[in-house]
Amino acid sequence: MKLTILGGGGFRVPLVYGALLTDRAEGRVTEVVLHDLDDSRLYAVARVLDEQAARVPDAPKVTAITDLDEALRGADFIFSAIRVGGLEGRANDERVALAQGVLGQETVGAGGIAYGLRTVPVAVDIARRVARLAPDAWVINFTNPAGLVTEAMSRHLGDRVIGICDSPVGLGRRIARVLGADPKEAWIDYVGLNHLGWVRGLRVAGRDELPRLLADADLLGSFEEGKLFGVDWLQSLGAIPNEYLHYYYFNREAVRAYQQAEKTRGAFLADQQARFYEEMKRPDAAALTAWDRTRAEREATYMAENREAAGAGERDADDLSGGYEKVALALMRAIARDERTTLILNVRNQGTLSVLDTDAVIEVPCLVDANGAHPVAVAPLPEHATGLVCAVKGVEREVLAAAESGSRATAVKAFALHPLVDSVNVARRLVEGYTDVHPGLAYLK
Ligand code: G6P
Ligand code: MN
Repeated sequence: MKLTILGGGGFRVPLVYGALLTDRAEGRVTEVVLHDLDDSRLYAVARVLDEQAARVPDAPKVTAITDLDEALRGADFIFSAIRVGGLEGRANDERVALAQGVLGQETVGAGGIAYGLRTVPVAVDIARRVARLAPDAWVINFTNPAGLVTEAMSRHLGDRVIGICDSPVGLGRRIARVLGADPKEAWIDYVGLNHLGWVRGLRVAGRDELPRLLADADLLGSFEEGKLFGVDWLQSLGAIPNEYLHYYYFNREAVRAYQQAEKTRGAFLADQQARFYEEMKRPDAAALTAWDRTRAEREATYMAENREAAGAGERDADDLSGGYEKVALALMRAIARDERTTLILNVRNQGTLSVLDTDAVIEVPCLVDANGAHPVAVAPLPEHATGLVCAVKGVEREVLAAAESGSRATAVKAFALHPLVDSVNVARRLVEGYTDVHPGLAYLK
């Protein structure tokens, strides 16, 4: 079984490889091809993987290449985890937005639109090549903004592309934990778009345990989302939102905290990662130790400004291991071995949410087997959530249209229609600001 990782020089690749190393079963991945445009990043990550594989018998064989078509040929699974424009691009996405007084974040609001406009053309090119060179492969998309990018790729690959994110899993796990339930036994009623979803119920043995949590202020205030959103707001909503909804429900506070931060998240990570990749150039560097130290610091500081704005304090130690590699592995196993399982994934709607058309990619629990991921029927969202989901899907569609046509006016429309961008004039200035700093947006005319 051959797995190709696009963005193979990326910092999170060792998480995926580490998950593969735990898989001893028949039909597991035996060959990993890392693809990246940057040789030195490939070299750095390959060093970490090499140390991970030491002392593991039959560890998947790793090769690293820079030719995309060669990487795709013969792949059974393709993970796409690329970052167009690098972390400097992410920092610019944040900076330009914050200068206009709106949110600069890699997946939400103006920053997410800018990142999407840069990424979609590249993702579409990859999808076309996959359709030609590896038509039977399954594509697992981690590339952010994950919902939008998955939808762009699905126009060429249909249901053979599946988007993943660790945030709904992490959320479900935290809720199960405070309720004293086993996350593996719990059915999580979650739906929305990527980074824009709500847990409306958590059933254990057929019984919904969420009302018990919502009724207990102490319990509710004891975990990440309770601290971030506040007990009263969760009780008013009657649901537990994905942590990324903090950017919507507390937008003013989040923007202010981001503006006041010494460095934006992207700028912080750009520096942190540059140090790591630089260190990997030293022949005597302890690759795995350096990687793990860098990873721990990254996880401890995740959404730090939001937590500070909310007075939420440090992250819970149990929340530090993200787990997206586990979702990826579980998904691959279910498909490759026809091991039926349920996972929250980004797939085409197919009538699940009646307010969206059939091809709209949504984030929803899916039954997964050898035939892929099939969304499970869920109850409709309340009106306030439907409003946000439809508005943001409308924006995503404008981003896809702008990426296809190269129309600058359509790009302005995408920004202007986003609920977190408060003026058409701001949208125009954002397009100017972003096209000035991003060579990857030169296609907008
Ligand atoms: C979560 C999200 C991912 C995102 C990551 C960002 O895991 O679900 O989509 O890539 O956080 O973390 P970072 O350390 O890059 O800010
Ligand atoms: Mn995510």
